Amino acid sequence: MTKPILEAIRLSKQYITRQGPLPAIEDVSFGVAPGEFLCIVGPSGCGKTTLLRLLSGLLQPDRGLVCLHGQPLPGPCREIGFVFQNANLMPWRTVFDNVLLPLQVQRMPGIEAERRATHALKLVGLLEFARSYPRELSGGMAQRVAIARALAHEPEILLLDEPFGALDALTRERLNQELLRVWEASRKTVVIVTHDIREAVFLADRVLVLSQRPGRVSGVVPITLPRPRSLSLFYSEAFGALAYEVRQAIR
Ligand SMILES: Nc1ncnc2c1ncn2[C@@H]1O[C@H](COP(=O)(O)OP(=O)(O)OP(=O)(O)O)[C@@H](O)[C@H]1O
Ligand SMILES: [Mg+2]
Repeated sequence: MTKPILEAIRLSKQYITRQGPLPAIEDVSFGVAPGEFLCIVGPSGCGKTTLLRLLSGLLQPDRGLVCLHGQPLPGPCREIGFVFQNANLMPWRTVFDNVLLPLQVQRMPGIEAERRATHALKLVGLLEFARSYPRELSGGMAQRVAIARALAHEPEILLLDEPFGALDALTRERLNQELLRVWEASRKTVVIVTHDIREAVFLADRVLVLSQRPGRVSGVVPITLPRPRSLSLFYSEAFGALAYEVRQAIR
């Protein structure tokens, strides 16, 4: 593998609860190559969100280290964008102003901030809704705004935590295709968490499989399917075989 842009080295994290310590992930190591699309799958509660938050610097590990460009990650930074499971848009701000907000917070000059917000909204196909308010959007559109907001920072790495988890299957399929298009156009490094095996195989260059809690790496499956990928892929034999391989690794 080429030198990883982002690296998890023997990460462990436990939460302190009223019932005592609860190990969430244990001894998790892997690298993410520049420009790679990595999917993390695993059963509910196995520590996927915990792992993603550790990778973003929002959470500190008990043991182990996260490295960005070979240097220890001290905390959240602009090179790493994060998209949460729910869009978290501000209802009183327009779509455009929602995307603009984090850039204003970091005091980016207005013209540059507006250029970036416009570009990001164009990438997710929502420029014509720039003046709309969140309540006027569908759930899928709101998630695309959240992705635009993360892209506007022009991060090198985008981390997404089940961004389409709450949506129906058909909408997810469409948005996953859209996400691949955005990825191909922006050349980011993407790490996405999902519990949907077929979604992971459809999207990824590699699927990292976590075991039941405490999550450990129980398999890494390279996805050799050609790109660009279309929905007909779901019905191919090669796709079925890879999905089965991921399924076996979860057990
Ligand atoms: N802030 C917290 N305090 C205490 N326990 C927590 C906290 N956050 C997560 N946990 C526990 O850690 C474990 C892993 O949680 P996590 O959210 O990382 O799992 P997940 O794989 O993302 O689950 P899901 O697929 O349901 O989103 C769970 O047992 C959960 O109860
Ligand atoms: Mg989660």
